Amino acid sequence: MGRVRAAALPGSPRLKVLHVAAEVFPLVKTGGLADVVAALPPALADAGADVRLLLPGLPAILDAVQSARTLIDIGPCFGAMRARLLLGRMPGSQLPVYVIDAPYLYRRQGGPYQSPGGDEWPDNLQRFALLGWVAAHLAAGDADPAWVPEVVHAHDWHAAMACAYMADHLPTAAASVFTVHNLAFQGLFPHHDWALLGLSSRFMSPSGIEFHGQLSFMKAGLKFADKITTVSPSYAAEIAASADGCGLDGVIRGRAGDVSGILNGIDTAVWNPGADRAIAAPYDIGRLAGKRVCRLALQQAMGLAADDQALILTVVSRLSSQKGLDLVLGALPALVRAGVQFAVQGTGDTAIEAAFRIAERAHPGRVSLHIGYDEARAHQMIAGADLIAVPSRFEPCGLTQLYGLRYGTLPLVRRVGGLADTVSDGDARCQTGFVFDAATPAALEACVMRALELKQDVSAWQAVMLRGMARDLSWTGPARDYLALYDEARAARIAAPRLVRV
Ligand code: ADP
Ligand code: GLC
Repeated sequence: MGRVRAAALPGSPRLKVLHVAAEVFPLVKTGGLADVVAALPPALADAGADVRLLLPGLPAILDAVQSARTLIDIGPCFGAMRARLLLGRMPGSQLPVYVIDAPYLYRRQGGPYQSPGGDEWPDNLQRFALLGWVAAHLAAGDADPAWVPEVVHAHDWHAAMACAYMADHLPTAAASVFTVHNLAFQGLFPHHDWALLGLSSRFMSPSGIEFHGQLSFMKAGLKFADKITTVSPSYAAEIAASADGCGLDGVIRGRAGDVSGILNGIDTAVWNPGADRAIAAPYDIGRLAGKRVCRLALQQAMGLAADDQALILTVVSRLSSQKGLDLVLGALPALVRAGVQFAVQGTGDTAIEAAFRIAERAHPGRVSLHIGYDEARAHQMIAGADLIAVPSRFEPCGLTQLYGLRYGTLPLVRRVGGLADTVSDGDARCQTGFVFDAATPAALEACVMRALELKQDVSAWQAVMLRGMARDLSWTGPARDYLALYDEARAARIAAPRLVRV
């Protein structure tokens, strides 16, 4: 992308940026969004910006935020009888964080979007409209006059209404940036709940947030943000086409000049094989011996045969149709016969869970499964395996293949979205992993066979490993790109505020 912006000069005002999101690692996490929201703001702060976060007051967030004080009593809103805006600091990082304490909407057991039984919370419209509404009031300067953001950066549909509320208030000077982490989750609500939003009626139209007779929070971000990003250049191109546009490709094409892709980085302090307390032995480019210790520890911990020659393939993933794990299941019997061991950790779709259980029973000592969510074990699996498979049907960015690169665990991925942008195959001089095209078990199987072949050549395998481990996967580069984009968003806001044309 080639955008470069110098860090703020000493004495010059730092750009005030508010990040708005529903989850943040390690407090609330359902996927890679939480990792991004934890790592990008501190990277922007390191690059010279004055960054704050805005989060909903989910129990884990309220419990963890430090030195929180009440900034303002918001009073009744969105069905809640009382709501307060707190200002505190993120544990560990000292990053200032606004938290909306609205017990009626947020203080409950379960996930951020779903009940413990897996149903969407029936009041998600109110829960996430409130998040966007508070962001817009911070941007307008009436929630915290002492700190008024110049850029509001909203993540995914959960925060997208910030862009609509900001567009509904013309005096607001702040620019809005909306990042699509996954277009498949759109925040769709019944049309007749429209009145609960408190938005001007002109927004309730196809040129507003109406979407085929429903309300779409995702569309609020896509229509009204000054700039739109997604988490890889390839996914930015894919979602502008009907096959991957989830019905919104027309809207995205309509904003073509404002959409770009900025690849995610990783938190290189959390994902550092040289100092990772969760793994059996540390290792890095200069001392690889620990990787072998991690392999043996993984085989032992997961009940895999202690076979030094076996190629260990790991999967650490949500078990959903997006992730293409049916391809792994289809290729698994032939690959087990070829000597591959499988270490799988995931949770989600019960049919995929059941299919892996059957595979585990059929291949004791060769296939091992852990159903559930376990951060420490994810580190152990990524450190201990030889290959990490990410055969997704679509993948906006993907973080686990990046963790694989950093841990010398070669990524084996489908050529889609961020996977295509982060793993190279084909030219031996710059190979960092294995890439296949067709979404079929046969294509995945052939790709793993190529990996098995390369593994016979110890020094060639190691060269690929070391190339990946040497890559700069930190947030430094992406943070610079976002800062340059914030400048563009501010210029766009001044030139032409985004209005609804009915
Ligand atoms: P997505 O957000 O689509 O699920 P990403 O690759 O961007 O995909 O991010 C997934 C994140 O969730 C990574 O940090 C990965 O390590 C983590 N993860 C996924 N499943 C599990 C699991 N079962 N246990 C621990 N961590 C998991
Ligand atoms: C989403 C995407 C994933 C991406 C993550 C963080 O969950 O599915 O590809 O890495 O967001 O941006």
